[in-house]
Order: sequence, then structure tokens, then C-alpha cells
Amino acid sequence: MPHIAIISASVRTGRASHRTALYFQNYLVEHNLATVEIIDLKAYQFPVFEERIWNLPDPSPALLDYAERVKKADGIILVTPEYNGGYPASIKNAIDVLYDEWHRKPIAISTNSDGIFGGTQVITSLQWSLWKIRAWTVPAMFPVPKVQDTFDEQGVPVDKKAIDKRASPFIKELLWCIEASKRMA
Ligand SMILES: Cc1cc2nc3c(=O)[nH]c(=O)nc-3n(C[C@H](O)[C@H](O)[C@H](O)COP(=O)(O)O)c2cc1C
Repeated sequence: MPHIAIISASVRTGRASHRTALYFQNYLVEHNLATVEIIDLKAYQFPVFEERIWNLPDPSPALLDYAERVKKADGIILVTPEYNGGYPASIKNAIDVLYDEWHRKPIAISTNSDGIFGGTQVITSLQWSLWKIRAWTVPAMFPVPKVQDTFDEQGVPVDKKAIDKRASPFIKELLWCIEASKRMA
């Protein structure tokens, strides 16, 4: 069974997109599709980027822990909010600080907003940064409009049938990429 890490990118007080991360965790466990962990950037509270991990003389235990979690994951679901038409600094920070850990890593992106467009303006800039760092972005999208009305604080969807129906092809695409990358390893 693959191991999937869900990166929850919002570090904002009162954040809502973390609900989407919790939803995916529940979905994967409920359907017995993967072992799962959430990499919560809010919990790490990383400082603004100073240098890549391999150049730091004494990387913090938190940074080493984060790097290890990314490295060991077979695939990643990246849950990000949209801030002013882009992704938040927290995720750029978390991308730039690693390098080899991202190489050929299948990454499925879920964009989130409190409005009706589901944070989709983030997608091209985030894909570009991940492509530059040699990750493998999965060609499937999971935009979540009105995230605060879509899930409760535990990630339980208001309309489970409708959300599960959208999650299924998104997750299948990620699992396909994970399987493909394992066969080439
Ligand atoms: C600094 C900031 C900028 C934002 N810019 C946008 C935006 O450009 N488009 C949008 O749809 N929502 C925008 N939002 C609203 C977020 O989509 C909303 O907070 C949503 O809940 C996801 O972010 P969260 O996980 O931090 O709560 C912005 C929120 C903040 C805090």
C-alpha cells in the first residue's frame, strides 16, 4: 500500500483549507487506499528561508523531520489556499528548503478559496515551481470553492456523495502516478 503525505500549507490563524487536508486523510483511510500522514506547515512554524537544508551547518530537528517525511512519501497531496492570486509564502518556503527530496515525487494539488473560484489561479504558478524543482505534478485538479462551507472543522463534507465523486478521479490519478514511478524505480 502506498504512503501518501498530505501537506497542509495554510499557516493562517483560523485557516479553513486545513479541512480539505483532513478530508483527504479520512478519504484515503476510509477507502483503504494508502497509509497517510499530514505534514502541517502551521505546526512546523519554519522561519523564512535562509538556505537549503544541505547547506545549513546545523539544520533544526523540525527541518530534518520535514525533509524525511517528504522523502519517504510515495506521493503527496498538496493542499494550498489562494492568497492574492498566488500560493502562500509558507509553501514556497517549504519547497525551496528541500531539493532532492522532491525529485520525481508525484504531487497532486488541491487549491482552496473562500470564494467561488476554488483558488484555481494558484495552479500554474505552483506547478511551475514544482516542475522547476523536478517534482512530478499530477495532471488532475481538486479546486475547493467556499471551503469553509464545504467541510466542517474535522474535514467532514457537507455533501459527502458529491465531494467523494470528485475526489475519486483525483486520487486515482495520483495513485496511477505513484504506481508508475514505483515501476521505474
Ligand atoms: C492574504 C489573503 C489573501 C487572499 N487572497 C485571495 C484570493 O486572491 N482569491 C481568493 O479566492 N481568496 C483569497 N483569500 C481568501 C482565502 O481563499 C480563504 O482564506 C480560504 O479560507 C483559504 O485560505 P485559508 O486556508 O488560509 O483559510 C485570501 C486570504 C488571505 C488571508
